[in-house]
Amino acid sequence: MKAKEGVLDLLQKVVTLELTAIHHYLLHAAVCDNWGYERLEHELHERMTEEIAHVSKVIDHMLYLEGAPDVQKLGVVQSGESVQDLFNVDLKLEQEDVKLLQEAIAHCSMVGDFTTRHLLEKMVVDSEEHIDWFETQLRTIKQVGVENYLSEQIKK
Ligand SMILES: [Fe+2]
Ligand SMILES: [Fe+2]
Repeated sequence: MKAKEGVLDLLQKVVTLELTAIHHYLLHAAVCDNWGYERLEHELHERMTEEIAHVSKVIDHMLYLEGAPDVQKLGVVQSGESVQDLFNVDLKLEQEDVKLLQEAIAHCSMVGDFTTRHLLEKMVVDSEEHIDWFETQLRTIKQVGVENYLSEQIKK
């Protein structure tokens, strides 16, 4: 099926952002593991798996629309010096993701591509849950103190 105008370009941006998220979670999970926070390693690894599911669906859909997904492009991957640094980087990325998905959803409505819109709408729900998770962690750190928070992250 041929894509409606502008849809493939937006889907490509989504692919690049999802791949960037995968790389963030891959790195941040490993960093947490290295610091001894097994539970956080497990959580971030879960996020990575979810982003892999997202990107593979978008790639499938681009092919269905006769597009040529580019999986080589990647955004900047940032690490950090502390768990809060990592969470802030991840939160910012998820916020960017929601913004892009909303933009793409609005475009799909405008050009009458309801299949793509439906796919993106399901993704935006996950991204909002991801945002909520990071916001909750950062709030908990403020409330109980970073040491208390981290002592709970040592075991799975
Ligand atoms: Fe995603
Ligand atoms: Fe996400």
